Amino acid sequence: MPEPLARRESPGVGRADHIEMTNLTVQAALEVGRRTLAARSGDEAGHEALFLLAGVLGLPPGLAALERGRRLDDREAAEYEARLARRARGEPLQYVEGRAAFRELFLKVDRSVLIPRPETELLVDEVLAWSHGKECLTALDLGTGSGAIAISLLAEGPFEHAVGVDISPEALKVARYNADEAGVQERLELRQGSLFSVLSPAERFDVVVSNPPYIASGAADALPAEVRDWEPPLALYAGETGLEVIHAIVVAAPSHLESGGLLALEVSPDVAAATLELMGAQGSYEGTRLLRDLAGRERIALAEREPRP
Ligand SMILES: C[S@@+](CC[C@H](N)C(=O)[O-])C[C@H]1O[C@@H](n2cnc3c(N)ncnc32)[C@H](O)[C@@H]1O
Repeated sequence: MPEPLARRESPGVGRADHIEMTNLTVQAALEVGRRTLAARSGDEAGHEALFLLAGVLGLPPGLAALERGRRLDDREAAEYEARLARRARGEPLQYVEGRAAFRELFLKVDRSVLIPRPETELLVDEVLAWSHGKECLTALDLGTGSGAIAISLLAEGPFEHAVGVDISPEALKVARYNADEAGVQERLELRQGSLFSVLSPAERFDVVVSNPPYIASGAADALPAEVRDWEPPLALYAGETGLEVIHAIVVAAPSHLESGGLLALEVSPDVAAATLELMGAQGSYEGTRLLRDLAGRERIALAEREPRP
């Protein structure tokens, strides 16, 4: 249960403001929100307040901003106040809102799943580019989390079936909800367990894709507090080097890829070169390559399974 604003220690509104809030116009509520979030969010405070209020009113932010003179009812005021309090304590906006934009989707998110990132939209782009002109593909999404990758491939590409795997049962509940919302529930099979352990030895896919955990356990202190303190550790850390999960995927994927099938991994610049080296060392991939994001950082590792004799 969120702590009421009146009892927060960080700058915000007091009890008197709470009482006023129930009668505030949208314009005044946005100003209260901006002031409440200023210490935490700086120049973004106004935008964030608008985003949170729009969520409460069930309107797109652009429309909410136009409803300047509308007065908040008691329920709206209480909900807005609670959301402001959560954000003021540092909780990421998407968790407070309960959803995150990803490509064509609005995905439900909570603290059991990573908030999907723009880099991962790029990973999906690359898989879709590879899939162009092909038909009836299958995909395996390892560490599916909110289901962002698997659901996008099913919604946007020539994929007829996907399997999403996650070690976290709570994450899979979120992925199930998102698959239902996106209307791909019949084509997305979710399995709980570690990586390939949930597959039978004979199961093969056209694409194995993953945004695995890839942060070295010792690097936690270097992460922004919003990530380190709020996102699930299972989604972030992968052993001392950050390569533990990537290593397991690169070694085992050839057994579960069709001939010529694609392995597509999101990586951090810290582990990109080591990932490429690992792929090369297997002797069962061809076309190994790294792609950069718009900021020029190596963020995606790709390879095709060599054709079997
Ligand atoms: C970086 S998050 C990616 C989530 C989602 N695919 C995305 O891109 O937004 C990694 C996910 O891998 C899951 N995970 C971590 N270790 C795993 C393992 N050994 N087997 C399966 N899933 C694992 C975590 O629970 C988390 O949901």
